[in-house]
Amino acid sequence: MSKIEPRDRMIVALDLPSVDDAQAMIKQLGDSVTFYKIGMELVYAGGLDLVRQLSSNGKKVFLDLKLHDIPNTVEKATQRVADLGATFLTVHAFPQTMKAAVKGKGLSPLQILGVTVMTSYDDSDLIEAGYSMGVRDLVAHRARQAKAIGINGLILSPEEVAGMRALIGPALQLITPGIRPKGAEKGDQKRVMTPGEAITAGADYLVIGRPITSATDPKSIADAVVDEISSALG
Ligand code: C5P
Repeated sequence: MSKIEPRDRMIVALDLPSVDDAQAMIKQLGDSVTFYKIGMELVYAGGLDLVRQLSSNGKKVFLDLKLHDIPNTVEKATQRVADLGATFLTVHAFPQTMKAAVKGKGLSPLQILGVTVMTSYDDSDLIEAGYSMGVRDLVAHRARQAKAIGINGLILSPEEVAGMRALIGPALQLITPGIRPKGAEKGDQKRVMTPGEAITAGADYLVIGRPITSATDPKSIADAVVDEISSALG
Protein backbone atom coordinates (compact mmCIF):
# COMPACT_ATOMS: atom_id res chain seq x y z
CA MET A 1 0.00 0.00 0.00
CA SER A 2 1.27 3.48 -0.89
CA LYS A 3 2.80 5.75 1.78
CA ILE A 4 -0.06 8.07 2.66
CA GLU A 5 -0.48 9.40 6.21
CA PRO A 6 -3.46 7.84 8.03
CA ARG A 7 -5.12 11.26 8.47
CA ASP A 8 -4.84 12.00 4.73
CA ARG A 9 -6.72 8.75 3.98
CA MET A 10 -9.92 10.05 5.61
CA ILE A 11 -12.05 12.20 3.29
CA VAL A 12 -14.93 13.99 5.02
CA ALA A 13 -18.01 14.45 2.80
CA LEU A 14 -19.34 17.99 3.20
CA ASP A 15 -22.93 17.07 2.28
CA LEU A 16 -24.33 20.22 3.79
CA PRO A 17 -26.97 22.60 2.39
CA SER A 18 -24.96 25.82 2.36
CA VAL A 19 -21.41 27.14 2.17
CA ASP A 20 -21.91 28.74 5.62
CA ASP A 21 -22.77 25.33 7.12
CA ALA A 22 -19.74 23.81 5.40
CA GLN A 23 -17.43 26.56 6.64
CA ALA A 24 -18.70 26.14 10.21
CA MET A 25 -18.02 22.39 10.02
CA ILE A 26 -14.51 22.92 8.57
CA LYS A 27 -13.74 25.36 11.41
CA GLN A 28 -15.00 22.89 14.01
CA LEU A 29 -12.90 20.05 12.56
CA GLY A 30 -9.74 22.18 12.41
CA ASP A 31 -6.52 20.20 12.08
CA SER A 32 -8.33 16.87 12.55
CA VAL A 33 -9.30 16.76 8.87
CA THR A 34 -7.02 17.37 5.88
CA PHE A 35 -9.22 16.13 3.01
CA TYR A 36 -12.82 17.12 2.13
CA LYS A 37 -15.29 15.89 -0.49
CA ILE A 38 -17.49 18.51 -2.11
CA GLY A 39 -20.36 17.18 -4.21
CA MET A 40 -23.00 18.58 -6.48
CA GLU A 41 -25.29 19.77 -3.67
CA LEU A 42 -22.70 22.19 -2.31
CA VAL A 43 -21.31 23.12 -5.75
CA TYR A 44 -24.78 24.20 -6.88
CA ALA A 45 -25.08 26.23 -3.67
CA GLY A 46 -21.95 28.27 -4.50
CA GLY A 47 -19.34 25.79 -3.23
CA LEU A 48 -16.75 26.24 -5.98
CA ASP A 49 -15.15 29.16 -4.15
CA LEU A 50 -14.82 26.86 -1.17
CA VAL A 51 -12.71 24.50 -3.32
CA ARG A 52 -10.31 27.36 -4.06
CA GLN A 53 -10.33 28.48 -0.44
CA LEU A 54 -9.64 25.02 1.00
CA SER A 55 -6.91 24.33 -1.55
CA SER A 56 -5.14 27.59 -0.79
CA ASN A 57 -5.40 26.82 2.96
CA GLY A 58 -3.47 23.59 2.48
CA LYS A 59 -6.46 21.21 2.55
CA LYS A 60 -7.10 18.65 -0.17
CA VAL A 61 -10.39 18.59 -2.06
CA PHE A 62 -12.19 15.72 -3.76
CA LEU A 63 -14.61 17.33 -6.23
CA ASP A 64 -17.34 14.75 -6.78
CA LEU A 65 -18.90 15.98 -10.03
CA LYS A 66 -19.22 12.63 -11.85
CA LEU A 67 -18.54 14.22 -15.23
CA HIS A 68 -19.94 12.61 -18.37
CA ASP A 69 -20.26 14.51 -21.67
CA ILE A 70 -18.68 14.70 -25.13
CA PRO A 71 -14.85 14.45 -24.99
CA ASN A 72 -14.19 18.14 -25.73
CA THR A 73 -16.47 19.27 -22.88
CA VAL A 74 -15.04 16.75 -20.40
CA GLU A 75 -11.47 17.73 -21.33
CA LYS A 76 -12.09 21.47 -20.89
CA ALA A 77 -14.12 21.01 -17.69
CA THR A 78 -11.31 18.87 -16.24
CA GLN A 79 -8.79 21.61 -17.07
CA ARG A 80 -10.92 24.13 -15.14
CA VAL A 81 -11.17 21.75 -12.14
CA ALA A 82 -7.37 21.37 -12.21
CA ASP A 83 -7.14 25.20 -12.11
CA LEU A 84 -9.23 25.20 -8.90
CA GLY A 85 -6.56 23.15 -7.15
CA ALA A 86 -8.68 20.04 -6.48
CA THR A 87 -6.87 16.75 -5.78
CA PHE A 88 -9.55 14.25 -6.92
CA LEU A 89 -12.28 14.54 -9.58
CA THR A 90 -14.84 11.84 -10.40
CA VAL A 91 -15.96 10.94 -13.93
CA HIS A 92 -18.21 8.14 -15.14
CA ALA A 93 -16.03 5.23 -16.30
CA PHE A 94 -16.93 5.35 -20.01
CA PRO A 95 -13.82 5.09 -22.22
CA GLN A 96 -14.33 8.39 -24.12
CA THR A 97 -15.00 10.25 -20.88
CA MET A 98 -12.03 8.77 -19.03
CA LYS A 99 -9.64 9.46 -21.95
CA ALA A 100 -10.86 13.07 -22.19
CA ALA A 101 -10.42 13.63 -18.44
CA VAL A 102 -6.90 12.17 -18.48
CA LYS A 103 -6.07 14.51 -21.39
CA GLY A 104 -7.66 17.48 -19.60
CA LYS A 105 -5.72 17.03 -16.37
CA GLY A 106 -2.50 17.13 -18.37
CA LEU A 107 0.53 17.51 -16.11
CA SER A 108 -1.46 18.98 -13.21
CA PRO A 109 -1.52 17.08 -9.88
CA LEU A 110 -5.28 16.46 -10.27
CA GLN A 111 -6.16 12.75 -10.06
CA ILE A 112 -9.09 11.29 -11.97
CA LEU A 113 -11.34 8.76 -10.26
CA GLY A 114 -13.71 6.52 -12.21
CA VAL A 115 -17.21 5.62 -11.08
CA THR A 116 -17.68 2.15 -12.63
CA VAL A 117 -21.37 1.39 -12.01
CA MET A 118 -23.46 3.43 -9.60
CA THR A 119 -24.08 1.43 -6.43
CA SER A 120 -27.78 2.25 -6.73
CA TYR A 121 -27.88 0.02 -9.86
CA ASP A 122 -28.54 -3.70 -9.83
CA ASP A 123 -28.65 -6.20 -12.73
CA SER A 124 -32.26 -5.39 -13.57
CA ASP A 125 -31.45 -1.64 -13.85
CA LEU A 126 -28.68 -2.49 -16.35
CA ILE A 127 -31.03 -4.66 -18.43
CA GLU A 128 -33.59 -1.85 -18.38
CA ALA A 129 -30.86 0.54 -19.61
CA GLY A 130 -30.03 -1.80 -22.53
CA TYR A 131 -26.92 -3.57 -21.19
CA SER A 132 -26.37 -7.29 -21.65
CA MET A 133 -23.86 -7.54 -18.79
CA GLY A 134 -24.60 -7.78 -15.07
CA VAL A 135 -23.18 -5.34 -12.51
CA ARG A 136 -20.29 -7.57 -11.49
CA ASP A 137 -19.04 -8.10 -15.05
CA LEU A 138 -19.54 -4.46 -16.03
CA VAL A 139 -17.61 -3.23 -12.97
CA ALA A 140 -14.69 -5.57 -13.85
CA HIS A 141 -14.83 -4.59 -17.56
CA ARG A 142 -14.76 -0.87 -16.78
CA ALA A 143 -12.05 -1.27 -14.13
CA ARG A 144 -9.77 -2.96 -16.69
CA GLN A 145 -10.47 -0.16 -19.19
CA ALA A 146 -9.83 2.50 -16.50
CA LYS A 147 -6.44 0.96 -15.73
CA ALA A 148 -5.48 0.80 -19.44
CA ILE A 149 -6.52 4.44 -19.99
CA GLY A 150 -4.46 5.68 -17.05
CA ILE A 151 -7.17 6.64 -14.58
CA ASN A 152 -5.77 7.20 -11.07
CA GLY A 153 -8.41 5.44 -8.99
CA LEU A 154 -11.88 3.96 -8.63
CA ILE A 155 -14.80 4.57 -6.29
CA LEU A 156 -16.20 1.31 -4.93
CA SER A 157 -18.45 0.01 -2.20
CA PRO A 158 -16.43 -1.47 0.71
CA GLU A 159 -17.39 -5.04 -0.20
CA GLU A 160 -15.98 -4.65 -3.74
CA VAL A 161 -12.55 -3.46 -2.55
CA ALA A 162 -10.82 -6.80 -1.91
CA GLY A 163 -12.01 -8.35 -5.21
CA MET A 164 -11.02 -5.26 -7.18
CA ARG A 165 -7.57 -5.15 -5.60
CA ALA A 166 -7.10 -8.78 -6.66
CA LEU A 167 -8.32 -7.98 -10.20
CA ILE A 168 -6.34 -4.80 -10.96
CA GLY A 169 -3.37 -5.03 -8.58
CA PRO A 170 -1.76 -1.99 -6.94
CA ALA A 171 -1.96 0.34 -9.99
CA LEU A 172 -5.17 2.16 -9.05
CA GLN A 173 -6.14 3.84 -5.80
CA LEU A 174 -9.35 2.47 -4.31
CA ILE A 175 -11.67 4.90 -2.56
CA THR A 176 -14.69 3.72 -0.63
CA PRO A 177 -17.75 5.39 0.91
CA GLY A 178 -20.16 3.35 3.06
CA ILE A 179 -17.93 3.72 6.15
CA ARG A 180 -19.47 3.45 9.59
CA PRO A 181 -17.44 3.36 12.82
CA LYS A 182 -18.73 0.69 15.25
CA GLY A 183 -22.06 1.71 16.75
CA ALA A 184 -22.73 4.52 14.21
CA GLU A 185 -26.14 4.83 12.52
CA LYS A 186 -26.15 3.21 9.06
CA GLY A 187 -28.67 5.74 7.69
CA ASP A 188 -29.45 4.87 4.05
CA GLN A 189 -26.16 2.95 3.55
CA LYS A 190 -26.79 -0.80 3.27
CA ARG A 191 -23.37 -2.35 2.70
CA VAL A 192 -21.05 -0.77 5.25
CA MET A 193 -17.67 -1.52 6.83
CA THR A 194 -15.82 0.04 9.74
CA PRO A 195 -12.76 2.18 8.88
CA GLY A 196 -10.43 -0.60 10.02
CA GLU A 197 -12.21 -3.28 7.98
CA ALA A 198 -12.16 -1.17 4.79
CA ILE A 199 -8.42 -0.41 5.13
CA THR A 200 -7.69 -4.08 5.81
CA ALA A 201 -9.70 -5.00 2.69
CA GLY A 202 -7.30 -2.83 0.65
CA ALA A 203 -8.90 0.63 0.47
CA ASP A 204 -6.50 3.56 0.08
CA TYR A 205 -8.98 6.31 1.05
CA LEU A 206 -12.25 6.33 3.00
CA VAL A 207 -15.11 8.75 2.38
CA ILE A 208 -17.12 9.39 5.51
CA GLY A 209 -19.89 11.93 5.95
CA ARG A 210 -22.73 11.83 8.46
CA PRO A 211 -21.00 9.79 11.20
CA ILE A 212 -18.71 12.84 11.52
CA THR A 213 -20.78 15.80 10.30
CA SER A 214 -23.92 14.82 12.30
CA ALA A 215 -22.02 13.95 15.48
CA THR A 216 -22.31 16.00 18.66
CA ASP A 217 -18.52 16.18 18.72
CA PRO A 218 -17.36 15.81 15.08
CA LYS A 219 -13.68 16.41 15.90
CA SER A 220 -13.46 13.51 18.36
CA ILE A 221 -15.16 11.11 15.90
CA ALA A 222 -12.76 12.23 13.14
CA ASP A 223 -9.77 11.61 15.44
CA ALA A 224 -11.15 8.18 16.37
CA VAL A 225 -11.50 7.26 12.65
CA VAL A 226 -7.87 8.27 12.05
CA ASP A 227 -6.75 6.16 15.04
CA GLU A 228 -8.64 3.18 13.60
CA ILE A 229 -7.00 3.71 10.17
CA SER A 230 -3.56 3.87 11.86
CA SER A 231 -4.17 0.63 13.77
CA ALA A 232 -5.39 -1.16 10.63
CA LEU A 233 -2.26 -0.06 8.74
CA GLY A 234 -0.21 -1.48 11.59
O1 C5P B 1 -22.86 10.30 5.09
P1 C5P B 1 -22.15 9.16 4.41
O2 C5P B 1 -20.92 8.67 5.15
O3 C5P B 1 -23.11 8.03 4.03
O4 C5P B 1 -21.62 9.82 3.05
C1 C5P B 1 -21.03 9.08 2.03
C2 C5P B 1 -20.67 9.98 0.87
O5 C5P B 1 -20.21 9.16 -0.20
C3 C5P B 1 -21.84 10.78 0.31
O6 C5P B 1 -21.31 12.01 -0.19
C4 C5P B 1 -22.36 9.94 -0.82
O7 C5P B 1 -22.97 10.68 -1.83
C5 C5P B 1 -21.05 9.31 -1.34
N1 C5P B 1 -21.23 8.06 -2.07
C6 C5P B 1 -21.84 6.94 -1.52
N2 C5P B 1 -21.97 5.80 -2.25
C7 C5P B 1 -21.52 5.75 -3.50
C8 C5P B 1 -20.91 6.84 -4.09
C9 C5P B 1 -20.77 8.01 -3.33
O8 C5P B 1 -22.23 6.96 -0.36
N3 C5P B 1 -21.63 4.63 -4.18
